[in-house]
Amino acid sequence: MTNFAPPPGMSDVMPDEIEVWHDIENAAHKIFPLYAYAEMRTPILEYMEVFIHGLGKDTDVVQKEMYTLQDRGGRNLALRPEGTAGIIRGLASTDIALGNEKRVYYMGPMFRGERPAAGRKRQFHQIGVENAGKVHPELDAECIYMLLHYLDEIGISGHTLLLSTRATPEDRKPAEIVLKKYFEPHIDIMCQDCKNRFQKNLWRILDCKNPACGEFIRGAPNLLGHLGENSRKYFEKVCSLLEYMKVPFTIEPRLVRGLDYYVHTVFELTHPGLGGQNAIAGGGRYQIAVPGAKKPIEGIGFAAGMERLIMAQNKKVENSAGSVSVYIAALDSAALESNASLANNLRRMNISVLAECEQRSMKAALRGANRHSAKFALISGENEIKNSNILCKNMADGSQSEIPLSNIAEHLSKLI
Ligand code: HAM
Repeated sequence: MTNFAPPPGMSDVMPDEIEVWHDIENAAHKIFPLYAYAEMRTPILEYMEVFIHGLGKDTDVVQKEMYTLQDRGGRNLALRPEGTAGIIRGLASTDIALGNEKRVYYMGPMFRGERPAAGRKRQFHQIGVENAGKVHPELDAECIYMLLHYLDEIGISGHTLLLSTRATPEDRKPAEIVLKKYFEPHIDIMCQDCKNRFQKNLWRILDCKNPACGEFIRGAPNLLGHLGENSRKYFEKVCSLLEYMKVPFTIEPRLVRGLDYYVHTVFELTHPGLGGQNAIAGGGRYQIAVPGAKKPIEGIGFAAGMERLIMAQNKKVENSAGSVSVYIAALDSAALESNASLANNLRRMNISVLAECEQRSMKAALRGANRHSAKFALISGENEIKNSNILCKNMADGSQSEIPLSNIAEHLSKLI
């Protein structure tokens, strides 16, 4: 450990960076409730089983990337690598089990032990939504539309919506046969991961990033033509609804997504400003089996990576951290107490104040007022104390006057 830096792939968000985070969080609180979604919060630590069952035991996230630990009670826990599985666990005990619809959104840290790179972190943050309990192509289209609405709200444009379908497990079987036949003659010269996937998780081969496998993956047949009829119709309906909503999209037959819970619609939003890690959001329709529930819970949702949204926004940040409306300093320590109580009174009137707790020179006081971008500096020296006044300096135009201490709060409240 050097300099107490955070662990690799994890970062502090410093006060001068926080405003953009607040902006994208506030936009979520504004946009998602317009579609009847309410915020839900789940624990950051869950039983490991929640993710093994939820995401699939053969996924990279579960096999290679989860941060796991055993607590003192011998429970096997994991830091959540994503939000969906925990949300569904939480919703499973509600009337969703009776077929009622639940609409929730969430935001917060997620953890994946991936190799850190630009835009790829080990602790990252997601804003996500889940609409669980009902299956309708209309809900899929609305969910995608809501994501685009949200991106408009935070000023992100120039993205591409990639769309595909995983179909239902039954309807994807004919495509699986085609896929197996296609890869069989090549699999011996593909990477070890692909060899394993060929045995356990065939579709995931399409997700392989190894350049040596790329040539074979690019040549894979278009599986959308080999799906069962129900899933094909479902997908066609989602596409036609999006067209009706004037949402541009590109069909990407090789989009399988990295989690095994998906059925039917899957999508990803890529952004050209992000380099290698160009997915700013991803999602789709899923089925998650919850232990004890009669049937799997079905839902549609997405999650956007907050760090990647901020990169895609590429905003020049005004550093307003620590700025206040009023700065108060004492040239004589005798005024420190009355200054502190004046500061408290002003704050109770919703005026932000920084009151120095040490005596200052006039020069240092004005420097301090500028450093905190104060609109007004209130300065008390020997004379002011004697006359129960305070010097009030307008930092924008330099004008100043002595105001009785008993009037200063009212005086400022009219100006700020
Ligand atoms: P995901 O595609 O694994 O989906 O992650 C969603 C988004 O989180 C990605 O598009 C990316 O922006 C961000 N992200 C993922 N991993 C990292 C990382 N290591 N560093 C930085 N950002 C990252 C899910 O997590 C699903 N739960 C989405 C979903 C919700 N599907 C249905 N409902």
